[in-house]
Amino acid sequence: DSATSFLRALPKCEQHIHIEGSLEPQMLFELADKHGMKLDERMYSTIPALEERYRNFANLDDFLAYFNKAMDVLIDEEDFAALAYAYMKRVSGDGLVHAEVFFDPQAHTGRGIALDVVVKGLKKGLAQGEGDFGITTELIMCFVKHLSVESAQQAVLEMQPWVASGDVIGLGADSSEKDNPPSTFASVYETAREVGFPRLTMHSGEEGPASWVRQTVFDLGINRVDHGVHAADDDKLLDELAPRGTFFTLCPLSNVRLRVHKSVSESPIPKLLAKGIKFSLNSDDPAYFGGYVLDNYLAVHDAFQFDKATWRQIAQNGIDGSWCSDERKAAMS
Ligand code: HPA
Ligand code: ZN
Repeated sequence: DSATSFLRALPKCEQHIHIEGSLEPQMLFELADKHGMKLDERMYSTIPALEERYRNFANLDDFLAYFNKAMDVLIDEEDFAALAYAYMKRVSGDGLVHAEVFFDPQAHTGRGIALDVVVKGLKKGLAQGEGDFGITTELIMCFVKHLSVESAQQAVLEMQPWVASGDVIGLGADSSEKDNPPSTFASVYETAREVGFPRLTMHSGEEGPASWVRQTVFDLGINRVDHGVHAADDDKLLDELAPRGTFFTLCPLSNVRLRVHKSVSESPIPKLLAKGIKFSLNSDDPAYFGGYVLDNYLAVHDAFQFDKATWRQIAQNGIDGSWCSDERKAAMS
């Protein structure tokens, strides 16, 4: 319909896409075949059964068990390149113009895959996608909160050459939030600053409380927050964050699949708009959560029926909040 074509045509950015979360069941089974791997049949029987299981995650940790298992099939450079390229191809029809892509190095090095294989493979697939579809990209490494601070420190230090070369522009933090307050990882972000990571972000306030978003921004000095939806439980916090320009990367379909919200209509998006908080709309793990970036825009439109001016503003805020050059931003609008 006309809303769909309007939202599709709107130049969109996404800053919250885990490339491992774009591993579709089809590719998962194909790569398992390619490597002669036997998948655990209790988790992986057929594609329809797997898709049904993905519709029934109990919470973030239940999802993470699947997310962290599926990536066992990513082994050589070509696998990582194919994964990144498939994502680019899929969103090229959605009006995506720029993506800032997360990956979890520890999840790969921890099972014996060389960091070189991971980064080179991803870079190759993204570059090929950029050439074919004109979508620009940046890479952001995330350390995982379910492993130790020491492991995160090591992952950050190992990334130094890729930061120096400009291939990896930022550090984020993802995985299990429960029992892992931001303050635990303050020293990791200090190391990242010393190593020269130009940009910092953190998953915060997805399942955790508003006070943890406050810690992220004020104690750790991080001004991009991935998810952050629970910040909306604290009006005073929002009033403090708006003038700082703290940028939220929201993932509405993810929040429903992981039972943060019962439906997209529970999302605090209208409140964030009213409070002048800048945010973007993102897919998070599109192969698991029922849609890519445009599907998230459409779900939000179904829930809130924003007018065209509001949609243009949301998309523009997503461009403004990107970590690319001003020239690139100008070309996107
Ligand atoms: N939250 C935390 N960790 C993740 C997510 C998420 O939404 N996606 C992939 N890893
Ligand atoms: Zn995420």
